Amino acid sequence: MAKKFTVSSFQKAKKDGNKISMLTAYDYSTAKLLDEAGVDSLLVGDSLGMVMLGYENTLQVTIEDMIHHCRAVSRGVKRAMVIGDMPFLSYHVTVEDSVRNAGRLIQEGGAHAVKLEGGSDVIDQVRAIVRAQIPVIGHLGLTPQSINVFGGFKVQGKSEEAARKIIEDAMLLQDAGVFAIVLECVPEKLAKLISEKLDIPTIGIGAGKYCDGQVLVTQDMLGMYTDFTPKFVKKYANLNEEIISATKAYINEMKECAFPSKEHTFHIDDEVIEKLY
Ligand code: KIV
Repeated sequence: MAKKFTVSSFQKAKKDGNKISMLTAYDYSTAKLLDEAGVDSLLVGDSLGMVMLGYENTLQVTIEDMIHHCRAVSRGVKRAMVIGDMPFLSYHVTVEDSVRNAGRLIQEGGAHAVKLEGGSDVIDQVRAIVRAQIPVIGHLGLTPQSINVFGGFKVQGKSEEAARKIIEDAMLLQDAGVFAIVLECVPEKLAKLISEKLDIPTIGIGAGKYCDGQVLVTQDMLGMYTDFTPKFVKKYANLNEEIISATKAYINEMKECAFPSKEHTFHIDDEVIEKLY
């Protein structure tokens, strides 16, 4: 079996200049496929609120939802690191609550690490979770749980002041002990600068090619989620069309009695069935 991808693998990848791959996963069978394909890490993102549960944003996702999906993903994975996203309000109330919720993602969800959004505002929580021996990934730039504060999904860090704040937060998070930072929707040159300043790896999403790794929402990357496609998404497949055409073929065949055919049917001896008439 291939060697597991761990926190040390993140550090080694940055040191050796090897890019880190990350994708989201929310269920057992997809996680199993992505792991088999060799992805380094799987993020059970709170994006599941939109992609799996059909909410408008991530704010309604609960810690129970996250644990449920983390469990399914962990069961499908042999090599990739599983990261559980801490949902809205699971780390905003008290430090004690935050450690308990992070611990639940590990203990009940089977995740290897947790991710949370924010910088200086959540630094006490980050320190406490790290002290509890739980590996943490930070998340800066466009942090979707702050959607109502940002007023929409917009690129962050374009002004000098906003860019400085992201850099300061990144340094703070590194000092607090996070082992990587997701940079979402920030200009490429800012992400490059931050990646050069940090000793820990950056994982970009809409942050250009200079980050130490990349993450995408799997359903976006496979062309399955079509409600909204951000500019930074590249579709590596068009499963949307495949699923619709396969479903149409199934409906047609079953209506015409072409399915199930002999090969998909169980049989009984004629003598036995005749006795039952
Ligand atoms: O929830 C999520 O999927 C994320 C990624 C977009 C980084 O946080």
